[in-house]
Amino acid sequence: MKDDVPNLKDFDQRLRDEANEDLADIIPAEATKKTQIIAIYGKGGIGKSFTLANLSHMMAEQGKRVLLIGCDPKSDTTSLLFGGKACPTIIETSTKKKLAGEEVKIGDVCFKRGG
Ligand SMILES: Nc1ncnc2c1ncn2[C@@H]1O[C@H](COP(=O)(O)OP(=O)(O)OP(=O)(O)O)[C@@H](O)[C@H]1O
Ligand SMILES: [Mg+2]
Repeated sequence: MKDDVPNLKDFDQRLRDEANEDLADIIPAEATKKTQIIAIYGKGGIGKSFTLANLSHMMAEQGKRVLLIGCDPKSDTTSLLFGGKACPTIIETSTKKKLAGEEVKIGDVCFKRGG
């Protein structure tokens, strides 16, 4: 019975390690005819973040290449994918980089989870 309960502390660390994985294997490419772009919007609290986080993860597990872009400053979608940890927003990161006189790279604003 004891073994049925997952060790959430380890799980949490695993998600954080996965988020920090090197993104060198992600090759930026132009959209192709096969590329599907899905935009979702609507009234507050109807389940947008919940649905998209699960849908994205499921499609990634099926081997599809998925890029999920969240526009919510609450970071609900990324928190769901990264064990409660909100990924820094693009605006937050680019502001810091700009102030430091540095260029924003894809790995600074893109985090990997579940492939
Ligand atoms: N199909 C569902 N069944 C039960 N609960 C759900 C379902 N979808 C979402 N929820 C729950 O409803 C709440 C609101 O969902 P969610 O945060 O995804 O909504 P949202 O549309 O993204 O809200 P917001 O507009 O504030 O960003 C969350 O607690 C979520 O876990
Ligand atoms: Mg939301």
